[in-house]
Amino acid sequence: MKKAPVLILGIETSCDETAAAVVAGGNRILSNLVSSQVELHARYGGVVPEIASRQHLSLLNPLIDEALQEAGKKLKDLQAIAVSHGPGLVGALLVGVAGAKALAYACRLPLVAVNHLEAHLYANHLGGEAIAYPAVNLIVSGGHSELLLVEKPGSITSLGRTRDDAAGEAFDKVARVLDLGYPGGPLIDKLARRGNPAAINFPRAWLKDQGGYDFSFSGLKTAVINHLHHARRRGENIKLPDVVASFQEALVEVLVEKTVAAAGAFKAETVLMSGGVAANSHLRRRMQQRMATALPAVPLRCPPPELCTDNAAMIAAAAYPRYLNGEYACLDLNAHPGLTLEFKV
Ligand code: KG4
Ligand code: ZN
Repeated sequence: MKKAPVLILGIETSCDETAAAVVAGGNRILSNLVSSQVELHARYGGVVPEIASRQHLSLLNPLIDEALQEAGKKLKDLQAIAVSHGPGLVGALLVGVAGAKALAYACRLPLVAVNHLEAHLYANHLGGEAIAYPAVNLIVSGGHSELLLVEKPGSITSLGRTRDDAAGEAFDKVARVLDLGYPGGPLIDKLARRGNPAAINFPRAWLKDQGGYDFSFSGLKTAVINHLHHARRRGENIKLPDVVASFQEALVEVLVEKTVAAAGAFKAETVLMSGGVAANSHLRRRMQQRMATALPAVPLRCPPPELCTDNAAMIAAAAYPRYLNGEYACLDLNAHPGLTLEFKV
């Protein structure tokens, strides 16, 4: 008789999205619910940690019920409870961790602690298509920009990371300066479609003399601010779509060129992209085009936009190999706001 696939409930509360999902066999999504708090935080121009925690508290339990219902499963059908325990906002993470521990204890199920960044990487496993290794994975989110070499699942080396602002942070800060609203990434993505990406030649920080694959985006952000100051002082008409399209082009070009260079240098069999900024339509298009010309034999894999941004299906996917290895967390599991990726080579 065929064995039933392992069912894992994933829980995600690291920032401003409350999320719960049921995933079968580490890659088949049975339900994946995200309750965004964006509207609540938008009026403050960014995430207010205290508001985020309180919202997670009221949203999490009903969302878990809904995720189970949508999956057509009951708590007794599950094999494990997985939760993101860092990095993120400590108060927000604690709500998910406490909820997951309570469920694991009450249902006598193993608890699996998941690194949120590693989960962004595992978003590429959802859907079930096999990944050829070694792979180069660009993770670009609100808090991180990381270029990783994945020799095989679980064996990760960091090739480069941001030295200042993360890519998503740069999007959000530029949108704030331009009074576009929060979160800035999707708003700039949309507005840039009407602009000319070659209108303003903003600087690209290649950091070539300093060893390759690191990123830096704070200079680009300052250049956008300076451009606006000068244009206003000279009484020039500011064409917002051109400004954001040129900013986006400068940022995307650096992400694309460094990822393609790393893929070539490390003979990657696959290039993977994930994290909230990987939902950006310009980045997706430019990466596709550049890969097609530079490395036509290497497939580019990127989850659909809704699996690039924070979700709980990726938490359950990342928990799956740990569950199979018996890597369970104890009930004294804590939140780790500054958790980094664990590199196993
Ligand atoms: O991965 P994510 O949902 O949360 C973190 O782990 O940080 O990433 C959120 C970030 C935000 O900075 C948001 O502005 C950015 O991803 N983002 C985008 C787009 N959608 C979300 N940036 C550019 N274009 C988008 N379409
Ligand atoms: Zn994230």
